[in-house]
Amino acid sequence: MPSITLRGLSSSFFITFIVVFHFSFPCHGDVGTASRYSPPYIPSGCYGSDATEFPSSNLFAAAGDGIWDNGAACGREYIVRCISAEEPRTCIPNQSIQIKIVDYVDSAVSLPSINGTTMVLSDMTFGTIANTSATFINIEFQQL
Ligand SMILES: *[C@@H]1O[C@H](CO)[C@@H](O)[C@H](O)[C@H]1NC(C)=O
Ligand SMILES: *[C@@H]1O[C@H](CO)[C@@H](O)[C@H](O)[C@H]1NC(C)=O
Ligand SMILES: *[C@@H]1O[C@H](CO)[C@@H](O)[C@H](O)[C@H]1NC(C)=O
Repeated sequence: MPSITLRGLSSSFFITFIVVFHFSFPCHGDVGTASRYSPPYIPSGCYGSDATEFPSSNLFAAAGDGIWDNGAACGREYIVRCISAEEPRTCIPNQSIQIKIVDYVDSAVSLPSINGTTMVLSDMTFGTIANTSATFINIEFQQL
């Protein structure tokens, strides 16, 4: 089971969720959560202020504590899919995206929509897989 720091979330809900999910879909990537953050985007946790490190797709995220890996997460790419959210129909069906980690949540200039998630997607990245009215979503993610 992935270790997730849940400062702002209900942990019993997520533990139940993760167990159920793993039994139903044992062969996929890890499950976690994603919040979102707004500009300005300065990749200070990874690259100082070097904006050339943003992927050309413009789909990027800041790593949460669960995947930060002491900085080794910088530049890692993940396939991310929205699997559920508190509000039904938040996820855009059948959408997977490839994102790049460009920052660490605690170094990011702007605060995440909620603390304690696996990763924090830029607003545009979040909106590619889910309704941006949501504060956070449950995700499936797999490192490339
Ligand atoms: C999503 O994928 C499933 C399975 O491949 C398919 O049955 C369904 O029609 C797709 N939904 C949309 C909205 O594309
Ligand atoms: C997240 O934590 C930071 C620092 O502890 C705090 O300032 C901020 O208000 C928190 N954000 C939310 C959405 O609770
Ligand atoms: C996004 O969610 C909000 C609040 O639940 C809802 O009013 C809006 O219609 C949703 N947008 C889309 C495109 O589904």
